[in-house]
Amino acid sequence: MVNYRQYQFAMSTCKSYRGLPTLAGIASLEQAMKPGLSVEECVRRLKRYHYAFKRLNQIFTARITAEPVYELKMGFSLHAHLCAEHVSALRKRVGEMREPPLGLEAVPHASLEILFDEILGAPTTNELIAGVYGKALPALKAALERHLSDTNPLADHPSVRVCRFALLEVEDMLGFGSQTLRALVSDSEYQKMSAWLTLLDNCLASAGGLDGTDKPSDVQIQRRHSAKPYEYDRMPKRDERFPDPYNMGVNAEVFLYDAQYPPEPKTLMMFYKRLREIDVPEMMASIITETPHKPWDYYRDMTRQLWDEARHAMMGEVGFANLEVDWPKRVMINYTWSMALNTQLKPLERHAVLYFIEQGLMPKTGKRFEWEVGRASHNLLSALFQDYDWADEVLHARIGRDWYLKEFKDPQQAVKYGDECWSRVLMNWENWRKEGLTQHHNWWPELYREACRHWGIEPDPKVIAYNTTYQSVRADLKELTGSA
Ligand SMILES: [Fe+2]
Ligand SMILES: [Fe+2]
Repeated sequence: MVNYRQYQFAMSTCKSYRGLPTLAGIASLEQAMKPGLSVEECVRRLKRYHYAFKRLNQIFTARITAEPVYELKMGFSLHAHLCAEHVSALRKRVGEMREPPLGLEAVPHASLEILFDEILGAPTTNELIAGVYGKALPALKAALERHLSDTNPLADHPSVRVCRFALLEVEDMLGFGSQTLRALVSDSEYQKMSAWLTLLDNCLASAGGLDGTDKPSDVQIQRRHSAKPYEYDRMPKRDERFPDPYNMGVNAEVFLYDAQYPPEPKTLMMFYKRLREIDVPEMMASIITETPHKPWDYYRDMTRQLWDEARHAMMGEVGFANLEVDWPKRVMINYTWSMALNTQLKPLERHAVLYFIEQGLMPKTGKRFEWEVGRASHNLLSALFQDYDWADEVLHARIGRDWYLKEFKDPQQAVKYGDECWSRVLMNWENWRKEGLTQHHNWWPELYREACRHWGIEPDPKVIAYNTTYQSVRADLKELTGSA
């Protein structure tokens, strides 16, 4: 502790040169004299933020697949990624504080575990978002702010930096969350879930707040949504903008790789392929959720790729919006790939298929080709999106090498296994038609016509006549038909 006389002395004798910022600009001398947090207390708190981000990453990921609303699927994909990045930053910081990274897997308080278990098991989307954005994230924000105001800004500067960056993105998530809650959850719906929200408050109170700095209350806590162990729902769900989810009536790849067609309509097929990639986060979420006990970096890398795939889907959405194409009406985005993989294969087999498909994207017929088509067309946005899509794919190939390939002694064997798994997946094209799930309607001519109206050109009869489905040609181009 610094007493008042010492402080007076310090202030009168330690002035900076000609009024330059003191202490590299991070704080005033006075601010840097406060007792702050000990290393032990600092680590104790950091471990709690770490736990909160880790559980939030897990919750966001697990709830992507069966969440029908497209915007929420995309938002959860981003927020899973942001949380994973902060987990990594916090782990690194804890490891710098005379603490081996041991203890990071421990649950810091039983009531916090219940808090996140309850949110993970929330039976409705409304409860899920009220729990995440209305309770857990605000508590995490308050804890990070408290760290900044409690700790010594000079002694603990590396943690200050980690907390500031985390706060920036926690606030972004809360911004998304409050807009979402206003749009989806009415007062009467809040009313209906008030007992459960009180349970979440009680979990926090019993843990002494998220950071454990308050006196823990001895309130009784009874599990509700987590009374039974959580069961991941691996069946993808979509909202009403995806009215024909079994439709495999327009084969994008056959058109794209056919030299007789010009580049402009090919950009439509690429926007379709991008938007269809909604199924990759749906599928990757299942691998991540159903593959426990991996080193943390596995989850960080896989979540990063998951977010990239969500970005690719949104690039497709922007591409169509840019051409004033009403995509929910014109383009039938299916979920056959994520549904088939999630329901027919084990997690490692799904990863094998993903790896196999992504290996196929690197040669000449893959991402470079798509970028060249974008450049040859007059659609600058298509060229830009394919440029980044290609760069992302190179990263994904690296992630595949780091986390899938290492499961095998021989890389050839790993690729072969992916091929075998992919061949085993049943795409019941004919059965879906017979069962009345889809008619595999050819939506291409209408989409193309609408784009031609935007371009102010007459449709090319050869292009408009394109009518190739995924029924019979899948075997020839099988490595190109999946998402990645
Ligand atoms: Fe992708
Ligand atoms: Fe990818």
